[in-house]
Amino acid sequence: MTPQHRLVVLSNRGPLSFARDSSGELRAKRGAGGLVVTLGPGVEREGALWVAAASAPDDIAAARSGLLDAEGFHMRAVEIDNGTYRAYYDVVANQTLWFCIHGLWDLPRRPRFDRRWAEAWDAFRLVNERFAAVAADCAGEGATVLVQDYQLALVPRVLSRMRPDVRVIAFMHTPWCTPEELSVLPDAAADELMEGLGAAGACGFHSRRWAAAFAACCLDRLGRQPEVFVAPAAADADDLRAVAGSEECASELSRLDELVGDRQVIVRVDRMELSKNVLRGFWAFDELLEARPDLRGRVVFAAKLYPSRQGVADYLSYAQEVQTLADRINANWSTPEWTPIVIDPEDNHVAAVAALRRADVLLVNPVRDGLNLVAKEGPLVNDRDGVLVLSRNAGAWDELSENALGVNPFDVSGTASALAQALDMSAGEKAQRSKALRKVVESRTPLDWFDDLLGAARGRG
Ligand code: F6P
Repeated sequence: MTPQHRLVVLSNRGPLSFARDSSGELRAKRGAGGLVVTLGPGVEREGALWVAAASAPDDIAAARSGLLDAEGFHMRAVEIDNGTYRAYYDVVANQTLWFCIHGLWDLPRRPRFDRRWAEAWDAFRLVNERFAAVAADCAGEGATVLVQDYQLALVPRVLSRMRPDVRVIAFMHTPWCTPEELSVLPDAAADELMEGLGAAGACGFHSRRWAAAFAACCLDRLGRQPEVFVAPAAADADDLRAVAGSEECASELSRLDELVGDRQVIVRVDRMELSKNVLRGFWAFDELLEARPDLRGRVVFAAKLYPSRQGVADYLSYAQEVQTLADRINANWSTPEWTPIVIDPEDNHVAAVAALRRADVLLVNPVRDGLNLVAKEGPLVNDRDGVLVLSRNAGAWDELSENALGVNPFDVSGTASALAQALDMSAGEKAQRSKALRKVVESRTPLDWFDDLLGAARGRG
């Protein structure tokens, strides 16, 4: 019989992924993205069961050979064949729902809801039903199930019907869209989506803005206000500072120092992702170099842009567009001693932390972002009282607005001015702002966030 757990977490991506080493042994690797940082400490403290999808052959092999109880996590895999997974994850979750809730569609051309898409929506429903069935099987009487993110948006309704005794809480690590933006989806899908999430006991967001947008969509589609709560995720300061203080990080920092010398450095750390607004960041830097000849040769833009969702054509072409733009800007401005933009596509957490330490300016300019953990991580490890230039459309803006320099992410000239202001800022003002940012960021931990979810489950959302 399956052990009956009192707390079950569901997410598409689990805390571990597996790959074979040179001798063919399966080795665990920490899962990509901010979800593990956010959920990990609470899941470990509570001994919760973490249910996640397995579709890659090595992940399925690891699940079958009982390797999922590792690194402090108890996991259970929902095995999904590759074709179904591609339809659920690439077509619906990434190309449809992600674009809808981040406002990314190029409406004259896309989306295109045709027969192929309708089949993908069926696959999306099927995967959600499979997750709900596994949760129903593992959850003890009266257990709490914490459903993470839009990929599993249909789970709360299915699970609540299967197991009315279970308390289901949903949390979206993303923004949410307006009712008008939602109405681009076919009516039946939009209704199913909102009925799915609306069946949760409560649905949480990182920012009050996204919670309000979600509530407006519920009112529009379901004719009722759902229970919502706001719980901004927190950076794991101890973990991050341990990485920042490691020898490996010191060597990454020396490598970066060799590259940039004593120049000022603008840093960004992002997935190669359309919502992160990388192009406008580079256009702004280009405009800055145009307007300020004194900065030429004196500033490097170090962009850590690690690969993401490479099964989606839009992501591949976006990465190409970003590279082409950086090449053009470099061809225009570089000198034998100076390359203005340096892109590092490697997914290397330690090198990213080294860059956050070295940043004179940290640029976080998403079109729309649920929170943006990097905006909180930077101030914690930065060595130079670096200035945070932050999009007003990032959820983290709620907490950091007083001491970051705010930008409208669509305004390239405004972003160029904010970068200039940050680079020119006096040492006194930088010190005061970064101290205040650190204080805000340190005031919350990942466990506080997790406790907010448990509080919502107990009805104190
Ligand atoms: O921010 C939303 C989110 O789904 C996170 O939960 C996740 O860490 C990130 O996007 C990356 O997404 P994916 O798992 O598709 O790479």
